[in-house]
Amino acid sequence: MNILILSRNPALYSTHSLLVAGRKQGHFIRVVDHLFCDLIIEEGNPQVYYNNAPLRNFDAIIPRIGSTATDYGAAIIRQFEAKRVFTTVSSDALLKARDKLVCLQLLAGAGIPVPKTLLTNNMVMLPYLLEHLGKHPLIVKMQNSTQGIGVIKTENAINTETIVEALNKLREKIIIQEFIKEAKGEDIRVFIVDGEVIATMRRQAREGEFRSNLHRGATSQIIHIEPEEAELALRAVKILGLKVAGVDILRSQRGPLILEVNASPGLEGIEGTTGIDIANEIILFVEREVRRQAPIR
Ligand SMILES: Nc1ncnc2c1ncn2[C@@H]1O[C@H](COP(=O)(O)OP(=O)(O)O)[C@@H](O)[C@H]1O
Ligand SMILES: [Mg+2]
Repeated sequence: MNILILSRNPALYSTHSLLVAGRKQGHFIRVVDHLFCDLIIEEGNPQVYYNNAPLRNFDAIIPRIGSTATDYGAAIIRQFEAKRVFTTVSSDALLKARDKLVCLQLLAGAGIPVPKTLLTNNMVMLPYLLEHLGKHPLIVKMQNSTQGIGVIKTENAINTETIVEALNKLREKIIIQEFIKEAKGEDIRVFIVDGEVIATMRRQAREGEFRSNLHRGATSQIIHIEPEEAELALRAVKILGLKVAGVDILRSQRGPLILEVNASPGLEGIEGTTGIDIANEIILFVEREVRRQAPIR
């Protein structure tokens, strides 16, 4: 099978892991930087070029699109979709999941419990609107934050207003959220491949920190999750149209809440913590799908 990985850097852990897993299964694997891909858009002949040569004869793509190139990356995926090449993440699902606001709206709209969240443009009403979210502390969050950068805890109304004003001035798109203090700086990452939970870990923020991102110095352990949590995570990925995803859950007083769904989840933390070869699971999933579909080359 010919598999193309879209990634900015073949040396990144996740990319490398997929490359090794794919080659071990006997596939031809090529990694190209999606930012160096070019598209020719014309009816009946969708093509993707790399160094002015068409990327042809691939059975599947595995996009690893980071948050700095979401739109461009989605455009490249969309072109492969037009070529009917199987992709582990659709352009549509990537865009929905990447935007925290859109993701929360879709999940809440489908009845999935999420932290109560405010979107507003109205600084005059802000102090009153904040009351919907309960007492401080609150969370002010950039809509496209990743690795915990852009997630801020505010301690009082003045503090919240000051930060919202500053971010508005910087033209950052933000949401404001209730703070789930019962989570105690801990969250659960549920890794899903093809409608199945294949690995789970608990992440604990470091001392004095509320963000449980491994990039922010959190530690992680294996955890066995409740059936209710697994079911919620599976429903969430289905709503977003994802097949490979990392779902983050906060345990709150009112039960599990879905915090976010990652469409390009990192493999390093979860493989290191659980010892599960997730890259191999993704390759096996690609094999099953390609066998099911016959791409037009
Ligand atoms: N509403 C919240 N209540 C409590 N903790 C939160 C809340 N939102 C985020 N966090 C903490 O901050 C971390 C990062 O937030 P998240 O929304 O996942 O953004 P990012 O995409 O940057 O990781 C989460 O893993 C969680 O530990
Ligand atoms: Mg997160």
